[in-house]
Amino acid sequence: MKGLITAGGRGTRLRPITHTKNKHLIPVAGKPIIVYAIETLKEAGIIDIGITYNADLDTLQSFLKNGEDFGVNLVYIHQKEPIGLADCIRVSKDFLKDDSFVFFLGDNLLAGGILKYKKIFEEKKPQSLLLLSKVQDPQRFGVPEFDKAGKIVKIEEKPESPKSDFAITGIYFYDSTIFKAFEGKNHIVPSERGELEISDVHQYLIDHGYTVLGENITGWWKDTGKPNDLLFANRLILEKHTEYSISESAFIDDLSSISGNISVGDNSKIINSIIRGPVYIGNNTIIENSYIGPFTSIGNNNSLVLSEIEHSLLLDNISIFNIQQRIDESIIGDNVIISKKESKPAVYNLYLGDHSIIKI
Ligand code: G1P
Repeated sequence: MKGLITAGGRGTRLRPITHTKNKHLIPVAGKPIIVYAIETLKEAGIIDIGITYNADLDTLQSFLKNGEDFGVNLVYIHQKEPIGLADCIRVSKDFLKDDSFVFFLGDNLLAGGILKYKKIFEEKKPQSLLLLSKVQDPQRFGVPEFDKAGKIVKIEEKPESPKSDFAITGIYFYDSTIFKAFEGKNHIVPSERGELEISDVHQYLIDHGYTVLGENITGWWKDTGKPNDLLFANRLILEKHTEYSISESAFIDDLSSISGNISVGDNSKIINSIIRGPVYIGNNTIIENSYIGPFTSIGNNNSLVLSEIEHSLLLDNISIFNIQQRIDESIIGDNVIISKKESKPAVYNLYLGDHSIIKI
């Protein structure tokens, strides 16, 4: 079985971070989101993996290379325009050939892995197996409709009146029958928003008598497309993966108090501060006279002085200085400076990029 992971799209819901960064490369607890997808596939024994992209080939490649560092073989597949998830599969035909494959949206995170579902797909041999998750807001997703026996009879993309409270997650198994949806009689066409919809592929398979099964995910699943989801994923990952680990080259002074699981990277310094885990702190970061509360990921080359923060995600090269009010539920991108204005007049002095959001 092969794997296909998406790394394209516009990331509009995660602006301004995505103005300069591919959303799949946003690090959560020190690792870009897409790496969690690669690891999930590797764990299930899937090592031949295609990565679909629109732009950003250089950034993706400079980080993921040929996959060797993660124990997989990566092939990069160009999708000219971000015109739908089904189109990602369509353009990957030369790579997928006649093999069955798992299609994994690179911004989706899944706690329990996919091995169990891979086995079900291999045993039952449907044309497609969809992973489902019960959600409070099915309107945001592809939604299945079931008959009385629990069989999927219809699938709608982002319906106004959902026929069930399940989302079709961004993790799908297929055999090569799927390519009929692009070439065969009555093949699918772009939707009103101009995209080849993955839900239309599923409906095509159902309408043409193929077997589309659904399996409920038991553990947590998250699509990290929106800021709140990203923070939620940050929390779950920190909770699950953070172990107590302090680099030998890190320094924590005697005045600091550390509790819970915290990970501190190379050459980072913690001075006269309180840290309550789970917290991840990358390399070359200085925390001084500050408080860091649970569920906070702090990247590399940052400095947090005379400030308090919790339940937040900070990327790299950030300086936060002398902020009176605790920063909470925030996502802060690379090269940001937040500091108290020391001179008069006492005003807010903002230099913000496009699509920034500030709540004071
Ligand atoms: C996409 C799919 C949708 C699916 C979702 C899962 O939506 O179109 O069917 O439920 O991924 O993450 P998008 O996140 O692109 O809005």
